Amino acid sequence: MKRKKIVAGNWKMNLNYKEGIKLATAIAKKMPAQSDVQVILGTPAIHLKAVADVLQHFSQIAVAAQNCHQAEKGAYTGELSVDMVQSVGASYVILGHSERRAYFKESNEVLAQKVDVVLEKGLTPIFCCGEPLEIRKKKKHVKFVKKQLQEGLFHLKAKEFSKIVIAYEPIWAIGTGVTASPEQAQEMHKSIRKLIAKQYGDKVANKTSILYGGSVKPANAKELFGQKDVDGGLVGGASLKAPDFLQIIGSF
Ligand code: PGA
Repeated sequence: MKRKKIVAGNWKMNLNYKEGIKLATAIAKKMPAQSDVQVILGTPAIHLKAVADVLQHFSQIAVAAQNCHQAEKGAYTGELSVDMVQSVGASYVILGHSERRAYFKESNEVLAQKVDVVLEKGLTPIFCCGEPLEIRKKKKHVKFVKKQLQEGLFHLKAKEFSKIVIAYEPIWAIGTGVTASPEQAQEMHKSIRKLIAKQYGDKVANKTSILYGGSVKPANAKELFGQKDVDGGLVGGASLKAPDFLQIIGSF
């Protein structure tokens, strides 16, 4: 079963407008012409339109918002709707990143609503899950991620779920320089695929792209992406440097 290979950059709250455009341009210019990798740039909201414009002739590079609000529109000062995000050219939305869960108190319940509005508008959610270190130490990581998936995603019908991209990001590996070993990543990705299979059947499970995130760099991407159930990466720090990000894209 061929699954979509994906390398998504998560710029987080980095790079001003000029720097963002410069990075997107540098990546686009050096993209291999015949790549079967879907590349996604998760830019700050204020850069989305400009980056989408830079990338308009590069069909294998898409743009993602890093969040959106669960309501269609209304009195939510400072927030962004899916409609807004879509109207400037984004086709993906990163949802439930552990930083949003931790600092902005996003619950699985709210995330389930966000997943719904994103799908309704025809955009693709990149749904993040992953455990903190204490949970891994207690060997409860599979159970922890299972709850995130059950509460955030498993209300979907199979047809809707098959549009989801999952990013497994162990919190202890994000921005720490500590990467999950290829074996740890594979173990969790396999467990996630099994959970999907139980809920939606093998066909859906085998088609779902599951990305690994957490200190992915040029030096470890090849081994991580070489794992049977790892279909790419969600890359933070290393997505801010064009040569590193391009090398990661070239790691399949
Ligand atoms: P990192 O971030 O690659 O800097 O660890 C990954 C992420 O948070 O998506």
